[in-house]
Amino acid sequence: MYLTSLPFFLFFITGIFCQYDYEPNPDFSYYFSMLELSSVCAPECHCPITYPSAMYCDDLKLKSFPIIPKGIKYLYLRNNLLEGIEDNAFENVTDLEWLILDNNQLKNSNIKGKVFAKLKNLKKLHINHNNLTEVVGPLPSTLDDLQLTHNQISKITPNTLEGLVNLTVIHLQHNELTEGTLSGVFKGLKSLLYLDLSNNKLTKLPTGLPNNLLMLYFDHNQISGVPDQYFQGLKVLQYLRLSHNKLTDSGIPSNVFNISSLVELDLSYNQLKNIPTVNEHLENYYLQVNEITKFSVKSFCKVVGILAYSRVSHLRLDGNNITREDLPQETYNCLRVATEISLK
Ligand SMILES: *[C@@H]1O[C@H](CO)[C@@H](O)[C@H](O)[C@H]1NC(C)=O
Ligand SMILES: *[C@@H]1O[C@H](CO)[C@@H](O)[C@H](O)[C@H]1NC(C)=O
Ligand SMILES: *[C@@H]1O[C@H](CO)[C@@H](O)[C@H](O)[C@H]1NC(C)=O
Ligand SMILES: *[C@@H]1O[C@H](CO)[C@@H](O)[C@H](O)[C@H]1NC(C)=O
Ligand SMILES: *[C@@H]1O[C@H](CO)[C@@H](O)[C@H](O)[C@H]1NC(C)=O
Repeated sequence: MYLTSLPFFLFFITGIFCQYDYEPNPDFSYYFSMLELSSVCAPECHCPITYPSAMYCDDLKLKSFPIIPKGIKYLYLRNNLLEGIEDNAFENVTDLEWLILDNNQLKNSNIKGKVFAKLKNLKKLHINHNNLTEVVGPLPSTLDDLQLTHNQISKITPNTLEGLVNLTVIHLQHNELTEGTLSGVFKGLKSLLYLDLSNNKLTKLPTGLPNNLLMLYFDHNQISGVPDQYFQGLKVLQYLRLSHNKLTDSGIPSNVFNISSLVELDLSYNQLKNIPTVNEHLENYYLQVNEITKFSVKSFCKVVGILAYSRVSHLRLDGNNITREDLPQETYNCLRVATEISLK
């Protein structure tokens, strides 16, 4: 019964395909998709056919928001002249996932109400290169990527970042933040992996960092020291950058950079005279342009042995007062996997 019906079944399928092969109707489907698109895109913006839930409204000199129709999930409004956001701006798209507002003139005082908190699925919020003076908020707890670089931010209201359990990335570089406003604000961010506070006005490291950070960047500040055991709780920290600060030997407790998870440490462009002690697992160590005059093997290897050696592969010591002759013989035993030691 089953076998005898098979040929008929095949014939039936072929028939369907043949019908489509010989009687296509491209005009109708094209017309239909255009109709559908025009109903989900503001006229001045662009919604790609292959990515219809995205709306691109970049480079349009817009001073106010375009009409944002239902169905848009990814909204790009880069390089415009937006100065504010009305409370109802996203009333049709409360399930917006990405909101990209880079290169506008947005000011905190012109961002009305709880406009971001109402976006119940928001994952990315980028407001880089704007006129913000404060971190925006309140923010929805779905947020995973917050980027507010190149503003004039000097303030974070203490509970702005509270409850953002999925926030993994924060870019705050090129602002005017001082440590006072930062203390404790990152504390509850248990998913935070990446925090960039480079190019701010920190003279001290902020207190209360969350424990799961992988990457922590403080380049180009005015930090002169590190509190004892500061990195103690950060058990998975891999990349730490403190270049272009004012670190001196007296600001660095003896084992503060001996962090066993660390892969890369950048202490270049500071005022160090000695090489801070690091863990045997560190791979890249940047110390160029300091005032180092002495090479201490103990900074890399407490003891040297068959299994006791440093994993440093790149070591930069150029721009210091140290030459190849200053390296003791046991250096090569300790740094036995180094492929590059720059001295000049
Ligand atoms: C929401 O959609 C309606 C109907 O399409 C439209 O008239 C209105 O301007 C939209 N609102 C915003 C803020 O874009
Ligand atoms: C934003 O900042 C730029 C550069 O500092 C300035 O020219 C512009 O007038 C500011 N816009 C507003 C709305 O304040
Ligand atoms: C956080 O992310 C997880 C996994 O994607 C998701 O299941 C959860 O609902 C999110 N929590 C919030 C508050 O958005
Ligand atoms: C770094 O600290 C560990 C203990 O956490 C210690 O065993 C190791 O010798 C230290 N490294 C150096 C180079 O002193
Ligand atoms: C560099 O070191 C040499 C010898 O260690 C010393 O004589 C010289 O004064 C140092 N130069 C500077 C600029 O510190």
